[in-house]
Amino acid sequence: MATVQVNGQLVEAEVGEMLIAATDRAGVYIPRFCYHEKLSIAANCRMCLVEVGHAPEPLPAAGGERKTYARDELRLAPKPLPACATPVSDNMVVFTRSQLAREAQQGTLEFLLINHPLDCPVCDQGGECPLQDQAMGYGSDDSRYLERKRSVASHDIGPLIATEMTRCIHCTRCVRFGEEVAGLMELGMPGRGEHAYIGTFLNRAVDSEVSGNMIDLCPVGALTSKPYRFAARSWELENHRGISPHDCVGANLTIQTLRGRVERVLPYENPRVNECWLADRDRYSYEAVNSERRLGAPMVKTQGEWKEVAWEVALQRACDGIKAALQTGGGDNLGALAGYASTLEEYFLLQKLVRALGGNHIDHRLQQSDFRDDAVAPVFPASEMPIEQFDRLRAALLVGSNIRKEQPLLALRLRAATRENGAHISSINPLAYAQNFEVETAITAGADMVAHLAAVASDIAAVRPDVVLPDGIEQWLKAPTVQPQPGIARSLLEAGADGAVIIGAPAQQHGDAGVIKAIAQWICETTGARLAVLPPGNSAAAWWAGCLPHRGPGGVALSDTDAGLDAAAMLAQPRRAYLLLATDPELDAIDGRAAFEAMKRAEFVVQISAYRSDAAMECADVLLPMAAFTESAGHFLNCEGRVQRAEVAAKPLGESRPAWKILRVLGNFLDLPGFDYVSLEAVNDDIPHHAHDGGASARMREWSIPAPRIAPTDTDPIGGGDSLLRLPDLPMYRGDQTVRHAPALQKTADNPPPAAHLNRATIDRLGLTAGDQVKVQNGAGSASLPLRADERVPGDCVYVPAGYAQTARLGGHCRVTLEKIR
Ligand code: SF4
Ligand code: SF4
Ligand code: FES
Repeated sequence: MATVQVNGQLVEAEVGEMLIAATDRAGVYIPRFCYHEKLSIAANCRMCLVEVGHAPEPLPAAGGERKTYARDELRLAPKPLPACATPVSDNMVVFTRSQLAREAQQGTLEFLLINHPLDCPVCDQGGECPLQDQAMGYGSDDSRYLERKRSVASHDIGPLIATEMTRCIHCTRCVRFGEEVAGLMELGMPGRGEHAYIGTFLNRAVDSEVSGNMIDLCPVGALTSKPYRFAARSWELENHRGISPHDCVGANLTIQTLRGRVERVLPYENPRVNECWLADRDRYSYEAVNSERRLGAPMVKTQGEWKEVAWEVALQRACDGIKAALQTGGGDNLGALAGYASTLEEYFLLQKLVRALGGNHIDHRLQQSDFRDDAVAPVFPASEMPIEQFDRLRAALLVGSNIRKEQPLLALRLRAATRENGAHISSINPLAYAQNFEVETAITAGADMVAHLAAVASDIAAVRPDVVLPDGIEQWLKAPTVQPQPGIARSLLEAGADGAVIIGAPAQQHGDAGVIKAIAQWICETTGARLAVLPPGNSAAAWWAGCLPHRGPGGVALSDTDAGLDAAAMLAQPRRAYLLLATDPELDAIDGRAAFEAMKRAEFVVQISAYRSDAAMECADVLLPMAAFTESAGHFLNCEGRVQRAEVAAKPLGESRPAWKILRVLGNFLDLPGFDYVSLEAVNDDIPHHAHDGGASARMREWSIPAPRIAPTDTDPIGGGDSLLRLPDLPMYRGDQTVRHAPALQKTADNPPPAAHLNRATIDRLGLTAGDQVKVQNGAGSASLPLRADERVPGDCVYVPAGYAQTARLGGHCRVTLEKIR
């Protein structure tokens, strides 16, 4: 440590750290544009110039009595130095407001403003612009520049970011963010001097799933939010705290409203969760809240005709329909399904209502098909390591995890782990996902994920003679396609507790998900690695609230006789009535066809939803309009077990109401006891408290390896001939109702039009050509789709994305054939 005297104040600092970091800590502001604590040092704007010298004697420790030195007593540097690139050394004396420093700062600003347009009145950065502020604080009130200003053409770089490149001051924060944090260098600075400019390579769009962070980093109005463009002036906006419902990270949001309408979402900095970043999904999904497809009034369907009605009428109709369906058979006739993005209180009330009606068929796991480990599962799918430890890992094995698209902020932390710790990351995935960090061993497994994972376990056992492979694993080791990968085993064994096995959505959707989780747990128990099962959305809250067929609130297990049907069974054995909470089962279920058929066959479907989706209009009988995620308070439980509260940011649209209030009043209409809650807090008080102490248990109790459902040695498990295994991966902007209704996100590259993706070798083998229109079919359904060449897809597989109406009727993992239409 060293003592530095800054403007006469004694400050403690670390030798070698940059001066600006030490002054920030001490509360002494130095102006800056290019410096950002999360990025490398560029030192190219020169705004942070300060005067630096050294005292002739050791300085007292911070808090001690300071001494005043005459300038000629100090060994002053002949020129001002950039504080962001000047390392602290002992006995440093710094002047941030001396005449030399002030002249340097004023000179820098004068140069920056030479080519800067006088755009402030029409610039979205106005009012929150460091250039405006620093021109005010450090600049001159006069311009000496009379020549022509330079202007730079702006290109369209996609639906999320608006560009006005004449305003750019070439700080390169956006370029460094892409290269260092996001791992996708989409912006660069070609040209030199006067001709330098920021642009995409070959005028391409910016496609990164975290691109919006460049807007926050840009210190001027060169990069601004396209959906927010000209919507408000920053000083008019009101700030509210929110939590993103889209993944298990629970990013903290600042939701900004203008006269009650959500106009923008920014990160609320939380170093333990999202740091200062947001995924684009968290940032732009608010647009759905203002979508034309919002459901603004209760609706009932009579003889096929939808009609808006008063709340009492809709609730009475819902109540009568549910009671009629339960008349013979009771609660067994009712199925309740929820989406992944509801709050803890909403999940709790949904299960309470169904159970009060004598039912137990309640679930939110529409993407899951293997439920065999329900009895031994932890209280919720979770990560044993706190989120902030992802960037300290030294090894990780991703199993069925497209972490970059599923939990983009955790992928940034894994990227930091590879860059800062040299972490060894490997993956076993159905498709060859493009990650934004280096993957040392990437196995593209198609349907063979379990066999490849079993091979890793076998490789571990090969170097650890003291351990015995678990029973039931041998049959997976016979798969002919699997090769030993000793590098994966070695990296996990070497990393010990600094290693992790991360289970993502494709693994949890797999027909043998129970086997995957059991082998992963054995690997963790053997190597000391930590287990992270990353569930979709706010699924952990659904588990804790008891929105499950086999557990009540707080993870209390129900007896086998009390346990209800899981989501897949509820669709395979259709119920007479369904109660849907914030889900379109046809699009959200892994087997969309089964979901559609179950809804069509049901006598009565009540859907509580914020949107008028096509599927809802076709299948439901009563639509109860719920408030969107920005319009309702509630709690979220993230993958590390952290409970976070979201506040109300805006009034619910039209007649819509928070879902917890709808469920509460529906309980009253159904004359159920215990539905007299007067506040959200009262609901929350009824839910067992979840204590968070960093990380949560992700391990099963008394686990064993279940029998295979897909034969491990069968490379052609379902059909034969030219049939292909369909991989139904869910694109990131199709995963819940809100993102599906967010217009700008829907226009990005992460929401491509649905297609049948095959690798070129398979296309040639089938005698097809990329671009053909093909009929993808199986015994139950078909879809007409364009054929796209995609080298991420393994041979004998076709990737047909789920979450689209066009592909929903094909079913989940199934064999399909392709036939050329034209
Ligand atoms: Fe004004 Fe800042 Fe916009 Fe430049 S970037 S026009 S200084 S608000
Ligand atoms: Fe800096 Fe913004 Fe220019 Fe990028 S666009 S270099 S962030 S001023
Ligand atoms: Fe130091 Fe830019 S902030 S040179």
